[in-house]
Parts: sequence; C-alpha cells; structure tokens
Amino acid sequence: MEHFHYLNGELHCEGVSLRAIADSAGTPTYVYSRATLLENLAAYDRAFASVPHVVCYAMKANSNLGVLASLARAGAGADIVSGGELHRALRAGVPPPKIIFAGVGKTREEMREALKAEILLFNVESESELRALNETAQAMGTRAPVALRVNPDVDPQTHPYISTGLKTAKFGIPMDRAVPVYENAARMPGLAVTGVQMHIGSQLTKTAPFADAVARVAGLVRALRDRGVDIRLLDIGGGVGIRYKDETPPTKDEYARVLLPALRALGVTVLLEPGRSIVGDAGALLTRALYRKESPDKTFVIVDAAMNDLIRPAFYGAYHEIRPVAEAGSSRPAETVDVVGPICESGDFLAKDRALPRVEEGELLAVMSSGAYGFAMASNYNTRPRAAEVLVDGAGYTIVRRRETYEDLVAGESIP
Ligand code: LLP
Repeated sequence: MEHFHYLNGELHCEGVSLRAIADSAGTPTYVYSRATLLENLAAYDRAFASVPHVVCYAMKANSNLGVLASLARAGAGADIVSGGELHRALRAGVPPPKIIFAGVGKTREEMREALKAEILLFNVESESELRALNETAQAMGTRAPVALRVNPDVDPQTHPYISTGLKTAKFGIPMDRAVPVYENAARMPGLAVTGVQMHIGSQLTKTAPFADAVARVAGLVRALRDRGVDIRLLDIGGGVGIRYKDETPPTKDEYARVLLPALRALGVTVLLEPGRSIVGDAGALLTRALYRKESPDKTFVIVDAAMNDLIRPAFYGAYHEIRPVAEAGSSRPAETVDVVGPICESGDFLAKDRALPRVEEGELLAVMSSGAYGFAMASNYNTRPRAAEVLVDGAGYTIVRRRETYEDLVAGESIP
C-alpha cells in the first residue's frame, strides 16, 4: 500500500499531513512511514516463509534508532558494517544472534566489540582479515562464527558505484580461490566456519543476476560439504531494487520465487540483507522552496535541502520524484527547472531539467523515495546542521532525531 498520498488537498504520510510536520519540525526534514517499513519487512518474511531465514536489515541504508527499533521489534536482525553500527543496533534492541558483520576493513577493535556481543556471523572478505579475526578470537578465548564473502563474478546491471560482484571489485574472495581459503579457515582454531555470503550489488531491477549468483554459490556450498566443511548459513546479500522513476524491479515474491528452489535444495538457513527495499519508499525529504531564479536559459527552484542532506542525485545521477505538498500545486502548468540547494557547488541539485508544475516561493515539496541512503549519507558540508527525522505511525508521529544545532556542529572541536 502507498503510505504517501493526498488527503484533503495535502500530501500525507499515513494519517499525518506533511504541512503539519513542517510546521512543527521545520524543514528540511526526513519523514518516514512506519507502516511501509513494516510491510516491506513482512513481505520478505512471507516470501521466504518456506525456508528457515533471518532478515538482517542492512542498516547502512538508514540507521536511525527509531527506524531500527521498529524493525527489530517486528523481528528483523541487522547487517552491520562498523563498530558504530553495532553500537546503534544494540542500542535499538536488535538481538545479537541476529546481527551479522560485513565489510572489507574491520579493525581488530571492531572485531573484539562484535565478539563480545556474541553476534551471529562475521562476513569475512580476505585472507588477511581471516588471520586477524582468528588471532583476535583466540586471544579472547572464543571462536568467531564465520562466512566468507565470495565473489560470484556476475554483472548485476546496475550503477557502477554500487556493483560489487564483479571480478574487479574490492569485495569478496574470487570464486576460484574459495575452496582453498575455506579449507585454510576451517583449520584455524579461533574460527567456526559456518556460512557462505554473497552480494553482487544494489538497486537491481532484474532477478537473473541474483539467480545466477545463487546458482554459483550453491555449487560452492556442495563442494565445501564434500570436503567436510559444514555450511549451514547462506547469506544471499542485499535485496531487490525499488521504483524511483519508471523502473520495474521484481517484487519480493518474484525474487524469492527464482531463488527458493536452489535454497531449499541446500537445506541451509538463509540470511537476507535488504536495505533499500525496506526503507527506500518509506521515506520522503520534506523541503521548502526559498526562491525562484529565472535566467534566460534556465529556471532554478532554490530549496532549503541540499546535497549534504541527499547526495544521491549529485553522486549517482539518481532520480527522485518531487511532489508539491499542496495538491493544488500539481495542476499548475509544467515548466522545466533545476531544483537546487544552497550549497556552493554546481553539483548541488536534487533534480536537473525536471518538468514540474510551477513551484512558488515558500511552497513545500517532498522528495520521494529517499528513506534509503538519504539521511544515512548526509554530511555537515557548508556547516549545515543535519535535517530532523520524523517517524509517522498512523495519525501520530515522533521526532526520532532532532535537527542538529550550531552547538552540535562545533561540540567536538577546540581552539589551541
Ligand atoms: N549487503 C551488502 C554487503 C551491501 O554492500 C549492501 C549495500 C547491502 C547488503 C544492502 O543492499 P540493498 O538491499 O540496499 O540494495 N549508497 C548507494 C547504495 C550503496 C549500497 C552499498 N551496499 C545508493 O544510494 O544507491
């Protein structure tokens, strides 16, 4: 169900008017629909109900404690990539037996923190990291549960910055090296080798690359079992893409349907690491138009959100739909504009050459489908306080992160 919709002439998130949120929390503000989060999570659980599985939400997409806690209460685990994310996950109440730790550059300190918390799995990306984890676990008198991230070398057909499963990527261990590396890992006393992990990329809009990769990895699981390495967990990486403009990504059911036969045959517990498809369409960035600027060649709508709040358009050339909060705005004649922020860079835009119904100064706009990799990638560039975040639940809402203050921005600094 679509939880951003027009009601009584105004764009609402669930039962709450975005204008009411702007009045109380100001702009720019990220607004999240709790119902959408929970429906997206439930859709994965339903789709994979026929196999033992854990949905380990990839919290890099949106690590707000309110968002995380809502998902954790609904049964989600977490896919973390840093000690900071571990801290957040534990604070939000994600049970450690549902936490998995990915990333090519885990420090020994981060390994210790995660071992102490007794997480479910470390997804290890190199032989050097295996040795470091083995030593760290041994020094603590424990064994680290391990999966190796293998690189299935399939093309996910997505943006090059978010493709990870090709041979040339920095991620994972090449498939043809996997068996000897596993055999080596299985001999290390500080490791308990229990899983295989893969991740080929993000914002995938086709099922074939997922199916190819799972087929390759299933072959590896069999080869490892033949050699006495007892693989019980198969982590199939991030989730499906979402619709930003006119993409037609597979539904969670379609995704599951192409993978389940191979997964069921293996008799493994399946781990999933979706991020974008849990929070992406659950969020919008609420912003106010400050000025219009019309030059002979271009019309600019200057808004109070910028690339520091949402970097995806600038960084990936990403498209985010922009809707007026006042429904009447939608029926004005369209004009082609750039929607830009106040930052001192030409790359600071939220939309370029976009046909939009005329936007008036002072008007509220919603930048849609920005719940994933929106706030999570925000910065303080130009010493701009980061936006507030609001979590809507039915007719009510909570400010789950207050807007930063100028004092927050200088809090860690000193003048010698
Ligand atoms: N697992 C691993 C190992 C990952 O690297 C990622 C995403 C995920 C899971 C989650 O993938 P998802 O379900 O969200 O597709 N900032 C970029 C996206 C970067 C994705 C990085 N890895 C963007 O804004 O499009």
